This record gives sequence, structure tokens and C-alpha cells, in this order.
Amino acid sequence: MKRNNILCIGAGYVGGPTMAMIAHKCPQYKVTVVDINHERIARWNSDDLPVYEPGLDEIIRATRGKNLFFETDIDKGIRESGIIFVGVNTPTKTFGAGAGKAADLQYWEKTARQIREASESPKIVVEKCTIPVRTALAMERILTSKDGDIRFDVLSNPEFLAEGTAIHDLEFPDRVLIGSRETPNGLEARKAIVDIYLNWVPREKIIESNIWSSELSKLVANAFLAQRISSINAISALCEKTEADIAEVSRAIGLDSRLGVKFLNASVGFGGSCFKKDILNLAYICRTYGLEDVANYWESVVDINEYQKERFILGILDAMFNTLAGKGICLFGFAFKADTGDTRETPAHTIARRLCEEKAELVITDPKAIDNAKIDLQDVDGITYEPDPYKAARGCDAIAVMTEWKVYTELDYQRIYDSMAKPAFIFDGRNILDHKRLHEMGFNVYPIGKPPLVHFT
Ligand SMILES: NC(=O)c1ccc[n+]([C@@H]2O[C@H](COP(=O)([O-])OP(=O)(O)OC[C@H]3O[C@@H](n4cnc5c(N)ncnc54)[C@H](O)[C@@H]3O)[C@@H](O)[C@H]2O)c1
Repeated sequence: MKRNNILCIGAGYVGGPTMAMIAHKCPQYKVTVVDINHERIARWNSDDLPVYEPGLDEIIRATRGKNLFFETDIDKGIRESGIIFVGVNTPTKTFGAGAGKAADLQYWEKTARQIREASESPKIVVEKCTIPVRTALAMERILTSKDGDIRFDVLSNPEFLAEGTAIHDLEFPDRVLIGSRETPNGLEARKAIVDIYLNWVPREKIIESNIWSSELSKLVANAFLAQRISSINAISALCEKTEADIAEVSRAIGLDSRLGVKFLNASVGFGGSCFKKDILNLAYICRTYGLEDVANYWESVVDINEYQKERFILGILDAMFNTLAGKGICLFGFAFKADTGDTRETPAHTIARRLCEEKAELVITDPKAIDNAKIDLQDVDGITYEPDPYKAARGCDAIAVMTEWKVYTELDYQRIYDSMAKPAFIFDGRNILDHKRLHEMGFNVYPIGKPPLVHFT
């Protein structure tokens, strides 16, 4: 078995960085990453990587062309590898049964078929992408549906990295989860994957499990994280009614060691390619097993996220005298969170569209996500895109902070205030700014889950 040759199918946010880390930590393995998107592969082979992650450039530079290769010939990659990670996209289905909820497994299934057709020797096939529980069974059925005696072992090794901190998460993971069938072959294949991670991950952080637990854990992990954000965001609405301060509430409950402080920052809402799709998928799976109430419970986590975005828009409208027509509104940030250019499911997208519906004159600035913003909003006319936040805010009536980029906490807001139309408003959708100081400068400041600081009586 060519076990020192690793292939990853899918060169996206997960495939690229994870394989770069394996290549970096395991010089004895040859790692190849392939994709049907040839332009993406070309960018992985250039200085302009298709994914922005702090620290990624250095690792790619150190490994590319040595033991890390980005290629387009998928069949060749399959033939030459003993271990194949599958990192293709599994978005929410947009058509047919389960539209808007179930995972769209077409890319994943095409990959399974291609592995079957191109294989000439035994393979360990590792699900890296996030898929519904029991997908491995379907994978096994496809792989073994052709005459021949090639052995395929299907494993689950879900990826827990978060965009923006991917390199740190990969280098120092909280845990690595590896699930397999608990047969002699399954356990042997599991050991091969454990051995890769043992090159840099401490043994106690590598969790082994049955394959179904591993598949399900990934969906559940995302659902639990998103649930915390929706919980704190729901409470932010109550704070605004009662003069409680969400930051104080968050601190008070977060210091309970049973809860912890993370994922308790109130905001305009969560985004990213994973939380919404994975919760909806989890709810869909529950429903297919007849668990209506459980499905409704998890869907409500997504509902609160939509509510929070709408609440933010209505708050802007209310503060700005119930009309935004012709008013300049500058979005500080478009990425779904800081340190990434990814805009999938970003709250800023929903808010930008809603502001345009209100006929506001929108200006969007972001350090890394302007290109994606232009693609996301290509059907909307009249939006200005400006990388420089000072130029972006000039002449505007309001700033709405959409992304918690550190750079937005370090700007000269006096200079910005002086250049804006008056009265000037700031809607801090991430609660990252110094609200008191901004108010002293003359801004009318609207945080999330705290009383606004305004100059009107
Ligand atoms: N983005 C994240 O933060 C994150 C974190 C953990 C897990 N995941 C999961 O990992 C998976 C991949 O996510 P992503 O964000 O990297 O997606 P992505 O869209 O960035 O990348 C997927 C890549 O797969 C390629 N692809 C699709 N079909 C293919 C095929 N048949 N052959 C070869 N290549 C093919 C696409 O061209 C694309 O480049 C998803 O299941 C996602 O849920 C994502």
C-alpha cells in the first residue's frame, strides 16, 4: 500500500491548510492536493493563495514543491496514493427533497465514484468534510459496488479548524477525532491515520471512536457552538429592553467554569459556511428519524440568528429617523469574522441587501473580503467598495461594524467623525469599539445589548 502517499480531493478552506500542515509536520509523506477547479489549483501554486489564513503563506512556502503538491489530475492522484482525504464542499441542498436543509452530497458522491473508478490498489478513504451521520455507509456501498477485489476502508476524521485561526488550530488542536469500523481492517486503517497525527499531536489529544460517533460529533460540535451565540444574542435583546449590559451579563455567566467565556460575545449574528448548514442538516437528520421536537429545537438556533440580523437593521432604521433613503452607510467589514476573507453566510451580506432595499447609499470596506463582497453583491447596483476605511466613511451618515477586525479598533475616530455627515451614527455590530470615547467625540453610538449613547434628548 502506498501509505506514504497522501491525496486530498478538494483544495478549499479545509483541504489546503490541513494538507499543508500534514506536509509541514511529516516530511516522510508526499502530500498531493487536487481539485476540479483548475484556477484554484493555479492560485495554490502562486504567491496569491486562494485562502487567507495568518501563517499559511510561510508553511506553503516551506513545503510546496518539496513534499506538498497542488495538481489537477485527480485520477493520477488517486492511483498513486494509499490514503485519500475527501475535503470537497457539502453545502446545503438548494433543490428537491430537503431543499434548504439537507446536505447536498453530489460533490461528495462524485468523488466516491471517481475514487472507485481510478483505484488500482487498496485505499484508506478519509472523510474530512462535514457530512450527515451514516454517510460512510453510503461511501462504502459506492466503493464496493464494482467487481474487483480492491479493499477500501472508509474512515471519518472531521476537521475542527476555525477560519482565521486555522494554522494555530491545526498545529495545536484541542483534539483530533478519528472514527473507523471496529473490524480488524478498520482498526488497522485507523492506526495509519493516527500515525500521521502522532507526528505532532500528543497521543492524549487523539480520540478514537466508532465511525458514526465521529461523523455525528462534527455536526453536534458546530450546533453547540452556534447555540451559545444564539443564546447570548437572544439575551442581548432582553438587555436592550431592561438596561442590563450584555457584556456584564456575559462576563458574569462566562466565569462559571461549567460554562466558560468563549462564544459568549453578543453580535449581529454568526456567519460562515458551517454553522447554519450543519445545524439545518442536523435538524433534517433528526426529522428523518421522526424526531420533530429535537429538529425544531435546533432550527430555533438558526431562527434566532436571523432574528438578530433583522433586529440590527430595524435598530438602524429606528435610530436614523425611520428613513435611510439617500443616506450614506458604511459597513466596516464584510467577512463573516476577522482574519478571513470568507464571506459565506456573513451577516454583512444580509444587512447590505436590506440597507439597499431601504435605498441607503452603501459603502463597503474590508481588509480581505472586498473581492468576495463584489461577487456576493454583483446583482446589486450602486454599492461603493473602498479598501481604505477613512475614505470609505468620508461623507457617510453612519458606520455599521460588521466584522471584528482589529484594525477597526485602532482607527483615528476623531478624524473619521470630522469627515462624516452630521448627526453621525455608529452601530457596533461586534461590540469592539470604545463606545464612551466615540460618544464624547460626538457620535451617536448603538452597541448590541447595551443602552445606546446618544446626543438627542
Ligand atoms: N470552512 C471551514 O471552516 C470548515 C471547517 C471544518 C469543516 N469544514 C467542512 O469541510 C468541507 C469543505 O469545506 P471548505 O470550506 O474547504 O469548502 P470549499 O468550497 O472551500 O472547498 C471545497 C473544494 O472542493 C472542490 N471539489 C468539489 N467537488 C470536487 C470533485 N468532485 N473533485 C475534486 N474537487 C472537488 C471544490 O472545487 C472546492 O475547491 C465541508 O464539508 C465543510 O463543511 C469546513
